[in-house]
Amino acid sequence: MKEEKIDLLKQRFLKEIEEADTPKKKREISKKYLEKELSLVFQSLKTLSSKRKSKVGKKANELKQLILENTEKEEVKENKQWTDVTLPGDKIKAGNLHPLTEIQKKCVDIFAGMGFAVAEGPELENEWYNFDALNFKEDHPAREMQDTLFIKQKNRESLSSEEKLLMRTHTSPVQIRYMLENKPPLRIIVPGRVFRNEATDSSHEINFYQIEGLMIGEDISVANFKAVMETFFRRFFKKDDIGIRLRPSFFPFTEPSFEVDMTCSSCNGKGCSLCKKTGWIEIVGAGMVHPNVLKSGGIDSNKFKGFAFGMGLDRIAMIRYKIDDIRLFYSGDVRFLSQF
Ligand code: FA5
Repeated sequence: MKEEKIDLLKQRFLKEIEEADTPKKKREISKKYLEKELSLVFQSLKTLSSKRKSKVGKKANELKQLILENTEKEEVKENKQWTDVTLPGDKIKAGNLHPLTEIQKKCVDIFAGMGFAVAEGPELENEWYNFDALNFKEDHPAREMQDTLFIKQKNRESLSSEEKLLMRTHTSPVQIRYMLENKPPLRIIVPGRVFRNEATDSSHEINFYQIEGLMIGEDISVANFKAVMETFFRRFFKKDDIGIRLRPSFFPFTEPSFEVDMTCSSCNGKGCSLCKKTGWIEIVGAGMVHPNVLKSGGIDSNKFKGFAFGMGLDRIAMIRYKIDDIRLFYSGDVRFLSQF
């Protein structure tokens, strides 16, 4: 056995491997060389002198190594196990809070800074808390102000208003729940989800979020309300020149009632598409708590008074993030949600 013969074997092997067009064929060639050609070479070593044996043996081992490496390469290619450890890793996608959750947290922080505690109430409410206790007279058209999602119940007509269930149309029923359990002075906010049986459009959803505010004390006035609102908006929009104005409005549970407009944060009151060229954006319904509501809450209306407000959380989130369609918040579209 001569070293040249092993060189020839090597050349033949490399040529055959190069010509083989599938990994399977390549593996078969390697097998053939390892099990037949090379094993003959190793068998013939026995007949050689020890000096020759080590020389030829070394060469034969080198060829064996080459064939093995080749086989391994093909297997890896075929099984796609190859990992390039020098490539940058896949970025792990971290989740984020929903923009409405973010906004709610910001609002709660600001009001907490002004001494407001957080209260909560059920989304499945009864008519008494949602309407009666809030001075909505039975059959009064004011009940129609908020299109309601009523819960189907057997013999509903014969049930009392405490038994008639609905999805709360606003966070105001929590005012009553809180008043009945706590003694004034009171200072709370109530963030929560509310439901309305409305057609949706770019600024109306059937389910949306509100933040209710309630402050009751011995001498709480509209001036206190104005100060709380102004402080809130200035901190929320991080602008010291934001002003608010109060316009007369109507809610059965407040007297007087007002709508609160805020200087448009986008154009600073100059007029733009967001504020429909008025320079103002309507954002909150509010008023001084009606004496009948204090009575429903077990509070002496001769001694205590206060203000309440209900703010549309989705609407302020829309202004803050310049979003022109409320429905995007509920679309579940990750492309939208991952921007926040
Ligand atoms: C109320 O819900 C009153 N409970 C607010 C209130 C509380 C007044 C306490 C006085 C005292 P209103 O229906 O206007 O009022 O809703 C309040 C805010 O919720 C609106 O200013 C608006 O920002 C938001 N809102 C109302 N309807 C929708 C809707 N369909 N989709 C999204 N936001 C809405």
